[in-house]
Amino acid sequence: MPKVPVPEHIKSLVPYPPGKPIEELKREIGVEKIIKLASNENPVGPSPKALEAMRKAIERVNRYPDGSAYYLKKKLSEKLGIEPEQIILGNGSNEIIELVFRTFYQPGDNIVSAEITFAVYPIIAHAMGAEYRAAPMKNLKYDLDEMLHFIDEKTRIVFISNPNNPTGTYVTTREFENFMEKVPDSTLVVLDEAYFEFVDRDDYPNGLNYIEKFPNLIVMRTFSKIYGLAGLRIGYGIGNSEIIDYLNRVRQPFNVNLVAQEAALAALDDDEFVDKVRNLTHSGLKWLYSRVERLGLEYIPSVTNFFLIKVGKGKEVFEALLRKGVIVRPMDGYHLPEYIRVNVGTEEENRIFIESLEEVLSQL
Ligand SMILES: Cc1ncc(COP(=O)(O)O)c(C=O)c1O
Repeated sequence: MPKVPVPEHIKSLVPYPPGKPIEELKREIGVEKIIKLASNENPVGPSPKALEAMRKAIERVNRYPDGSAYYLKKKLSEKLGIEPEQIILGNGSNEIIELVFRTFYQPGDNIVSAEITFAVYPIIAHAMGAEYRAAPMKNLKYDLDEMLHFIDEKTRIVFISNPNNPTGTYVTTREFENFMEKVPDSTLVVLDEAYFEFVDRDDYPNGLNYIEKFPNLIVMRTFSKIYGLAGLRIGYGIGNSEIIDYLNRVRQPFNVNLVAQEAALAALDDDEFVDKVRNLTHSGLKWLYSRVERLGLEYIPSVTNFFLIKVGKGKEVFEALLRKGVIVRPMDGYHLPEYIRVNVGTEEENRIFIESLEEVLSQL
């Protein structure tokens, strides 16, 4: 037995259950093809421009990456109309979440978010030994007024996933503005816009419009979703330059790898690809809704690339789909045992998912 003392808050952590590699799963269940609709990934692939940039970049991986990500910050700043000093890059936007904790959290502080939201917020909070307060939601939507009741002078970080994973719902401009006006200046608000590029609603707030007015706001975005670069791990945060400066002091000097930087630069130039993915997602979602309705199932309308379907026994449906080679996400861990979450796939994947779901439901 190792004699190294382990802090209580680490002992009580539940390990994140890793999925099996696709090849292992194929062998285990004896299917040729696996369809993965469980991680809200881009089913199309990376943009062709990003692929080409990556192929070139691998020739140079004997060198460390540019620790300041000079060119990528420059391009992002031009595209988004902000200063490079307002940007922090991360090894996925997940790393930004962690950096925010490591930079601003002190023992005794608390963290506030919603009951059913991105699992990484409580995971990191608990790993830091922080008190994590989960505010109730309204119809599976963030209730920002309710969240205000959970915030006090020791609340250091608030997380808002907009749109929210796993519900696919969003907070409106009016709700968000009202919240920002009331939240204490000493509380950092992290607005997680991982799915920003998928949303086409007039009353959906673009977090960047509020950076100037609210120095306690950080907006997070990622290359993992619409840009199709999840495996590279690259995301970014935007905020007040002083706040960003502190985050930059805490991060590792080479936290974003060379291939990821080059791919992201190229992906930002590929508007055609982004449009294609967005259109495919919107039409796919509409098609899936219609088929789910035809199966007599309820679902939660979503503004992003995934949605919740009420199937009854979510875990059983998940397992039965898995045996057919279709991976979705069971929602029991999110206190929604009747639901599964599924992301939009290619047309063929969507069709196979619906056929499999129909078979599974008739068998169960
Ligand atoms: C709400 C939300 N934020 C952040 C992320 C993580 O993104 P990244 O791959 O940039 O770490 C995800 C990924 O699923 C997400 O759903």
